[in-house]
Amino acid sequence: MIASNSRTANAEDEPIRIDDLDQRSIDHVLTTTRAVRRRLDLERPVPLEVVNECLEIGLQAPTGYNLQNWRWLVITDEETRRELAEIYRRSLEPFVELMDDELPEDEQTRRVAASSLYLAEHLHEVPVHVIPCTTLSVSGERELWDRMEYESDPLNMAASSVYGEVWPAAWSFMLALRSRGLGSSLTMIHLAEEPTVAELLEVPDGVSQAGLIPVAYFKGEDFRRGNRRPLEEVAFYDRWERTDPLG
Ligand SMILES: Cc1cc2nc3c(=O)[nH]c(=O)nc-3n(C[C@H](O)[C@H](O)[C@H](O)COP(=O)(O)O)c2cc1C
Repeated sequence: MIASNSRTANAEDEPIRIDDLDQRSIDHVLTTTRAVRRRLDLERPVPLEVVNECLEIGLQAPTGYNLQNWRWLVITDEETRRELAEIYRRSLEPFVELMDDELPEDEQTRRVAASSLYLAEHLHEVPVHVIPCTTLSVSGERELWDRMEYESDPLNMAASSVYGEVWPAAWSFMLALRSRGLGSSLTMIHLAEEPTVAELLEVPDGVSQAGLIPVAYFKGEDFRRGNRRPLEEVAFYDRWERTDPLG
């Protein structure tokens, strides 16, 4: 068992008052944690201690009923990463073929597509792969929620509760990595062959994989804010598409 050499705040630390927080740095990390693909340093090894430290930070994220049904598969073995990368590329191929005609043809989409292909081509070289899992499954949760005899199909409830178990923690993990000079990106295309990956990694039945997060140090100094739709286009108040509150 590898102990994490904890730089992370814990209960015994001096309490931090709100005025002590460095808002600028926090906001900088929150707004500049990008999907890092081309700038991953494929040569520099990643100590497991750093990965564990960031995972530990992730474990402070919320889960339903605080049941912590998450599990984290950290893949460092070279041959296993090679097999995962092959599965990833196989899964990506039909997506690329089909989405070529479907995706908007703007510059940004083209850049994301090219960068995603780059990651796929080099995935086996990325020193650490992290697969967030949950011991829940959408079908299992759907059956559970069905027992409450709600009026509508609880499929969306099940999906939300299953993946909601891991994504908040995974994102905290990615933020913690970024603040330590490591890059990552959230991917999920390999789920097209989830059973093959489950067999390879000896994941038991009933456990759901949520995605695959490649982890490496990043090259270069810093990142900038990404392109996002303006808030006015995506935030509504009191009613769908209402731009000002009712009250
Ligand atoms: C649900 C989800 C699935 C994603 N799947 C993939 C993927 O399979 N491969 C990949 O390279 N990036 C994947 N991404 C990363 C997105 O492309 C990326 O977050 C988005 O382009 C924004 O990038 P930016 O934060 O660098 O601006 C995924 C992101 C999300 C939220």
